[in-house]
Amino acid sequence: IPVDPFDLTIFGGTGDLARRKILPGLYRRFRSGQMPEDSRIIGAARSDLDDNQYRDEVRAALKEFVDRDRLDDASLEGFLDLIRYVSIDAMGDAGWKELKAHVRPDHISAFYFSVAPSLFGPLAERLHAYGMADQSTRIVVEKPFGRDLESARELNRTLAEHFDETQIYRIDHYLGKETVQNLMALRFGNVLFEPLWNSQYVDHIQITVAETVGVGGRGGYYDRSGAMRDMVQNHLMQLLCLIAMEPPSQFDPDAVRDEKLKAIRALDPVKPDSIVRGQYTGKGSTPSYLEDVEAEESNTESFIALKVNISNWRWAGTPIYLRTGKRLKARQSEIAVVFKDAPHSIFGAEAGRHRNILTIRLQPNEGMTLGVTIKEPGPGGMRLIDVPLDMTFAEALGAENDQVTDAYERLVMDVIRGNQTLFMRGDEVEAAWAWTDPIIESWDSTDRKPFPYEPGSSGPEESAMMLHRENRRWREIR
Ligand code: BG6
Repeated sequence: IPVDPFDLTIFGGTGDLARRKILPGLYRRFRSGQMPEDSRIIGAARSDLDDNQYRDEVRAALKEFVDRDRLDDASLEGFLDLIRYVSIDAMGDAGWKELKAHVRPDHISAFYFSVAPSLFGPLAERLHAYGMADQSTRIVVEKPFGRDLESARELNRTLAEHFDETQIYRIDHYLGKETVQNLMALRFGNVLFEPLWNSQYVDHIQITVAETVGVGGRGGYYDRSGAMRDMVQNHLMQLLCLIAMEPPSQFDPDAVRDEKLKAIRALDPVKPDSIVRGQYTGKGSTPSYLEDVEAEESNTESFIALKVNISNWRWAGTPIYLRTGKRLKARQSEIAVVFKDAPHSIFGAEAGRHRNILTIRLQPNEGMTLGVTIKEPGPGGMRLIDVPLDMTFAEALGAENDQVTDAYERLVMDVIRGNQTLFMRGDEVEAAWAWTDPIIESWDSTDRKPFPYEPGSSGPEESAMMLHRENRRWREIR
């Protein structure tokens, strides 16, 4: 659905996120005819460039980060026509009048703060001082949204001095992923799953976000964060919310976010023996974590596995296992809902143990698989086997389909539409930190080292053992 004409300013317009994600996403929307030609995209950053020099940078970024079959000259040039550039000083006065000249009062206006959080306050202040902010202005902010509860509160307070909560779009790009939204469709659009979605029928849930990349290139940031702050507090927490929350009464921003908030607040504190942290070693020409972050010593985790309990009527007794890490065997993000055994097997012990598992694949190969038990075909008697009922979105929608959109592209368009459903509310972020802080403190206070694991593995052995102790096992990363 096309949006109304808008002026989108990207502070940090020459940065990595703008080049890799924001601009390519906007280009794809433009190419599919969903962005009016009367819109403007204004890059704002410190570098001294003119419009054409910035357009050259944008062109180069699109060539690098957009699939070749989606790059055609006509769309590319059409898109570059929308681009402007302003050289600006976030902490001073240079460039603000020039920016104002580009931002048209009769257009939807949004400002993307793709900059360090320490600049949120100065930018917000200047937007007001130079008369570019009114009740309809939207601002978009990125993670990391603080590094603990206190700093997140401080950021929320700073933004609240200048903008109303309805104007603030806190991005967690996992919420823009196709399958993540499908999770809500699956749960609340079907009659089939919701009656079983509780501790009576679900044995446990596993959420895995495995990456093959290391932290090279962003070692400075990463070493101060670790997997808990970089991935669990935000992305995995959001996935957990969508899996665990109660059905909202309607698909409306606050109704959805109220339920997510309740789910976060129902999380139990995590016990130290329910946490496994790991750090990758080097192997052959692959550098170790310490080499990647250029440190002789570091206790930061590049892998973490956790067992999480939720204290409410729906989930008491059904653990949720979270695991994420860098330099693992494969890039694989999925949620697996492992159902309980049938209460009684009429087929006897030799039929084996069969379980229904619903797997929701975020990437790659987005889709869902429901493992069901059937009789093995043939004359061999009543032998049971597990087969997948598979729905891979690319196949179901057709390989050519443009509908499997990138997360950023969907989220930026939601900002323009004024739809906050897939953005985090301030209280949600704070609740997530309130749960995360004591966990991080628990290892900071003991100086406990993460377990080493080899690149290309599934993480440290201790992570497998944590589940093994409870007679469960992780799904394979492959
Ligand atoms: C980012 C993290 O938020 O998400 C990165 O900072 C991580 O460390 C990335 O690699 C993963 O995103 P995706 O979409 O590639 O799964």
